[in-house]
Amino acid sequence: HKVRHYDFKIEYANVSRICHSKALVSVNGEFPGPTVYAEEGDRVIVKVTNHVQANVTIHWHGIRQLLTGWSDGPAYITQCPIQTGQSFTYDFRVVSHRGTLFWHAHISWLRATLYGAIIIHPRRGLPLPFPKPDGEFPVLLGEWWNGDVEQIEMDALRTGGIPIISNAFTINGQPGPFYNCSTADVYKLKFKAGKTYILRMVNAALNQDLFFGIANHSLTIVEVDGEYTKPLTVPTLVLSPGQTADVLVTATQDHGRYFMAAKPYVSAPVPFVPIPTTAIIEYETSTEAELSQPPVFPALPANNDTVYGENFFQSIRSLNSKQYPVHVPQTIDRDLLFTVSFNLKACPPGQLCSGPGNVTKFASSMNNISFIFPSISILQAYFFNINGVFSRDFPDMPPHPFNYTGPMINPQPEVGTKVNVIPFGSNVQLVLQDTSILNLDSHPIHLHGYSFFVVGQGVGNFNPSTDPANFNLIDPPFRNTVAFPRAGWVAIRWTADNPGVWFMHCHLETHTSWGMEMAFLVTNGKGKKQTLPHPPKDLPKC
Ligand code: C2O
Ligand code: CU
Repeated sequence: HKVRHYDFKIEYANVSRICHSKALVSVNGEFPGPTVYAEEGDRVIVKVTNHVQANVTIHWHGIRQLLTGWSDGPAYITQCPIQTGQSFTYDFRVVSHRGTLFWHAHISWLRATLYGAIIIHPRRGLPLPFPKPDGEFPVLLGEWWNGDVEQIEMDALRTGGIPIISNAFTINGQPGPFYNCSTADVYKLKFKAGKTYILRMVNAALNQDLFFGIANHSLTIVEVDGEYTKPLTVPTLVLSPGQTADVLVTATQDHGRYFMAAKPYVSAPVPFVPIPTTAIIEYETSTEAELSQPPVFPALPANNDTVYGENFFQSIRSLNSKQYPVHVPQTIDRDLLFTVSFNLKACPPGQLCSGPGNVTKFASSMNNISFIFPSISILQAYFFNINGVFSRDFPDMPPHPFNYTGPMINPQPEVGTKVNVIPFGSNVQLVLQDTSILNLDSHPIHLHGYSFFVVGQGVGNFNPSTDPANFNLIDPPFRNTVAFPRAGWVAIRWTADNPGVWFMHCHLETHTSWGMEMAFLVTNGKGKKQTLPHPPKDLPKC
């Protein structure tokens, strides 16, 4: 196996989009940031040096961090932030993944501009489970904000309101020609008729599930979240923030120009008509006349087409082949049910709040606990036995009997920094139940340190006596981020064989800011191979 070294300088880059210029936070001046390449089994060492006036951490989204929990990256969960002028070296191995993942900042809303792809090739000697593509393109979906994203987050938190929505969606950082001043700000790729290309897809948006399609071309999904799938051909891809996919596209046309486009997928009615972000595929054989014509635009589902969205997610299956087997836990040791909720908090006296009635602010919670970030990282507090940073009483079940069809019980959440303790090696089943009090969004829930099997999902209340009979324990998708249906539930399973503190949160930044997160503490097992080692010497201090 190789060692791959990367040098990430966090620095300002002046970037203009849609008639606005700003100095955004970047890696090495690039926006989006550089791609990290690895082969499964490789060791990746990234030295991150902070040259901006903001605290930074980087998270390697989907990387297991087996026994390297110190390199995971979420601020105040596994590390203190890297302060201005300081550096920290992330050091981890890429195990049990192939395909596309991504890295992003994991503090405040900096991941709006700090993100890039991670591309992982299978272990040497293992063939791809599909014909070798003729070329590959990154397709990173993102959002552009004219204003300063840290300021937008702070304003939203103070007033408890819904933050200003982004000013544009982007493909590889470019909004495309449907936005103002953007005729030149468009990502272009060239196709040769008859060839097959692999698109390395990432949804790096802060707050938006997205539909994605290409005019006159179908999409064949062969991998999601770093795990190969049974090939699935669809007209439109659905990606939630935090989700990634490898998609094969065959150049089935002879010539011409075609848009690829992404637009929001929302389960609630939206008060705006979003402009799609687009990129242009140009066939090398196109005539002069065709090159001067506008490209063909893809048909995409309606913004609120939840039927398409849910069928899509339910159609994905792990490949589960001889070469790429999956091992779904058939029995469970820990049976958990967490509600995922919006709540309202009373507006503190003297503050201006923008929740309902202007006397409340929005909050969100899991099992009715709205998460508060501690002032030093939970992993450090755990490892060095520092008291008073967190408590170990995050409940296994909701504190109130839950009935989705009944009136809302206890809209005011508790607040706290609580972890749920899992003994090493446990097979965990977790049912996430949306309580849908405000009926707003679905939630892409992301777990650090593990991928999990999505064994079941449904609408309404989870029924523990009947629903498990329908679970897929053979080839369920193996993911790190699951978008579960609004007013519904999803059941996930994994084996807790990686000791450490592992964050779990909604990957919509707004919901995370309101408290929709918690952490698991997985204890050490026996011996060195089951024990979290000492932190690296350069781990930042708070
Ligand atoms: Cu992609 Cu905790 O994040
Ligand atoms: Cu959410």
